[in-house]
Amino acid sequence: MKPLLEVRDLTVDFGPRRGGAVRVLDGVDLTINPGETLALLGESGSGKSVTAKAVMGLLPKDQSRVMKGSIRFDGTDLLTLSPKQLRTVQGSRISMVFQDALSALNPVQTVATQIGELYRVHRGFSRKEAHEAAIEMMRAVRIPDAARRADDYPFQFSGGMRQRIMMAMALALDPDLLIADEPTTALDATVQAQILDLLAEQQEARGMAMMIITHDLGVAGQLADRALVMYAGRPAETAPIDELFDRPAHPYTVGLLGSIPDARHAGKDLPTIPGLPPDIAHRPAGCSFHPRCPFATDICREQTPAYELVAAERRSACHHAKEVMADAVVGA
Ligand SMILES: Nc1ncnc2c1ncn2[C@@H]1O[C@H](COP(=O)(O)OP(=O)(O)O)[C@@H](O)[C@H]1O
Ligand code: SF4
Ligand SMILES: [Mg+2]
Repeated sequence: MKPLLEVRDLTVDFGPRRGGAVRVLDGVDLTINPGETLALLGESGSGKSVTAKAVMGLLPKDQSRVMKGSIRFDGTDLLTLSPKQLRTVQGSRISMVFQDALSALNPVQTVATQIGELYRVHRGFSRKEAHEAAIEMMRAVRIPDAARRADDYPFQFSGGMRQRIMMAMALALDPDLLIADEPTTALDATVQAQILDLLAEQQEARGMAMMIITHDLGVAGQLADRALVMYAGRPAETAPIDELFDRPAHPYTVGLLGSIPDARHAGKDLPTIPGLPPDIAHRPAGCSFHPRCPFATDICREQTPAYELVAAERRSACHHAKEVMADAVVGA
């Protein structure tokens, strides 16, 4: 199958060009096939949101620079396109749902105007057509009483309903890829479950691919086909989700999964691993995980492990990946 999204060696610096720049992403690789869901896992600060923003073209231009790599979407490297060409891809063929719907929505426009604007700009709809399409989209994401609520403002909706409005906007142009960055983190458990069901249902109905960023292994297990585990701005491991849970190939994944053999413990945050994630401005030499790794040996402190194939469809950046996989028992 031809990949829909192929990120290769993506390397992004933040901060001043001369002196003091911080390498926030260092060689990120990921692939998403059409219709597939990839979960991005990793502790806070590991570069998940920056990866998503790079794909969406939302990196702050004055503060960040792509130093290396490519972001191929449907065969075209987005990093080589003009701003005008990019607008036809980012926001329409690729769209994004953020954690905080309230700050992503415009407080002084009605929700139908905001959803409708997409149809006006990208599809050339008239005001009336756009309004009707917006109501249709509100119905699709199950906002009760959509026609009556179309002229309400974001603050008049609950947190869960605002997240549905965000989804309506993200889905309006029928994207090939939806990026959802912790879309339910701010919601309570019942509403979270409803939003996840809606995501799964819309993905199924539209056949779109998805990148879901989450802290919750239950969410990853429920929605994802594959996972990419990131550590300190680098890829640690990628695997089909069931294999990742059953037989992790990186000690950091072992730590994330904790001591529970069946990791599908829905609703639980990633267990904490002893020690702190490194300050990416001062990554430890060799493997950045070595100060926290129970498997570390001399080579780990000296040489950065390559991110290599360890089994079919599986890669790991660990000198001892084979032994870690053979160990099999999570948390042993
Ligand atoms: N605008 C910015 N300026 C400087 N550093 C940033 C900026 N945005 C993110 N970073 C840094 O990039 C790293 C990765 O951040 P992020 O991708 O948001 O992590 P997460 O995995 O929690 O989503 C963090 O160390 C963060 O401090
Ligand atoms: S390379 Fe060494 S320190 Fe890094 S994760 Fe593997 S065993 Fe641990
Ligand atoms: Mg984030």
